[in-house]
Amino acid sequence: MLTLHKAAAALPKPSRSRMCEFLRSFGFDPGKLFLHKLILGIETSCDDTAAAVVDESGKVWGEAIHSQTEVHLKTGGIVPPVAQQLHRENIQRIVKEALSTSKISPSELSAIATTVKPGLALSLGVGLSFSLRLVDQLKIPFIPIHHMEAHALTIRLLNKVEFPFLVLLISGGHCLLALVRGVSDFLLLGKSLDIAPGDMLDKVARRLSLIKHPECSTMSGGKAIEHLAKQGNKLHFDIKPPMQRAKNCDFSFTGLQHVTDRIITQKEKEEGIQKGQILSSAAHIAAAVQHTTACHIAKRTHRAILFCKQRDLLPQSNAVLVASGGVASNFYIRKALEIVTNATQCTLLCPPPRLCTDNGIMIAWNGIERLRAGVGVLYNTEGIRYEPKCPLGVDISEEVGEAAIKVPRLKMEI
Ligand code: KG4
Ligand code: ZN
Repeated sequence: MLTLHKAAAALPKPSRSRMCEFLRSFGFDPGKLFLHKLILGIETSCDDTAAAVVDESGKVWGEAIHSQTEVHLKTGGIVPPVAQQLHRENIQRIVKEALSTSKISPSELSAIATTVKPGLALSLGVGLSFSLRLVDQLKIPFIPIHHMEAHALTIRLLNKVEFPFLVLLISGGHCLLALVRGVSDFLLLGKSLDIAPGDMLDKVARRLSLIKHPECSTMSGGKAIEHLAKQGNKLHFDIKPPMQRAKNCDFSFTGLQHVTDRIITQKEKEEGIQKGQILSSAAHIAAAVQHTTACHIAKRTHRAILFCKQRDLLPQSNAVLVASGGVASNFYIRKALEIVTNATQCTLLCPPPRLCTDNGIMIAWNGIERLRAGVGVLYNTEGIRYEPKCPLGVDISEEVGEAAIKVPRLKMEI
């Protein structure tokens, strides 16, 4: 709490006159009638400044995004004050761009939805303080958004997916399996006990110096691993999946990172190259680590499906598994998941890659879902705070572990 307040106090508030000037640039007229239910979504929880306008039917009127990936690649990871500064520099432009491409005036908005949890404190603070100023000026409701809930519900903007469904959220900051029973009704079945898969892939990519690889220099770590893995042989190195004996739906990626690190150090010695140069076996390493990651994720997801069916939490046939988050844009991992859904008579649904990674559309859509369900729509924003840490739903992962479900072996021929 102390850190949270300290961080909040450090945020400069956009001045009232600057906000008025910003609104006037759209010809804002407070007396105008609301014709559609249109929501402006704002996302700044990590390293993307994003905004979008979405209506009740799921139509995206406009969107804009500023990615900080290239800056953070150069510093070897996200430096929170740098991310905060970049959000500050870009938020007004990005919101303006989303509104102007929508041809929507701020007075036509029904509400503003903004990510307030979980995420980097300094980054969340920028989006929240900007949004609070805007709702105050426009006199419209505010809908605080849980970033992972937004990732989970994105699929309903694209497909007719009814509750309940199973969701696997894998990104740079998160890794969880949850049963989605309603807009804000989640059962948490398992989560990563250490780092998220995207974080691990980013670290491996950095250790392999892929930023210096001509084909991968502007890609996120995970994307670079996927790209390079296509040129490698996954069987060249034998990396065992973690937690093989733990019959639960939790994940772990630190061990995988350390094993890969050891292989890289060994290969550097063998090839006589310095740290920072690219190994001739980099593609094989990328292929092996991607394969092990896919197998680990697939196995935990398989167990989650079996658990939900055993407890009648999901229908016995045609149950839906949704995979989202930045790492779910990886096609190799999607194929591994498809093997699992084929074996369990489920359907795998994944948003397109640009909606798997962070974006403003998912936040606006989550706002629409909450507005329709009448949950968490605030007419008074007094006391609203961002929360860097915030679990998703009711945690039943211990119960899942106690069920100790044995997962049949599947041939992972991807
Ligand atoms: O969801 P996201 O945009 O932000 C977070 O909430 O973390 O996910 C970013 C993460 C990064 O770790 C990135 O390396 C990873 O997703 N990622 C990928 C791919 N594209 C992005 N991982 C594996 N394969 C990809 N194609
Ligand atoms: Zn995310």
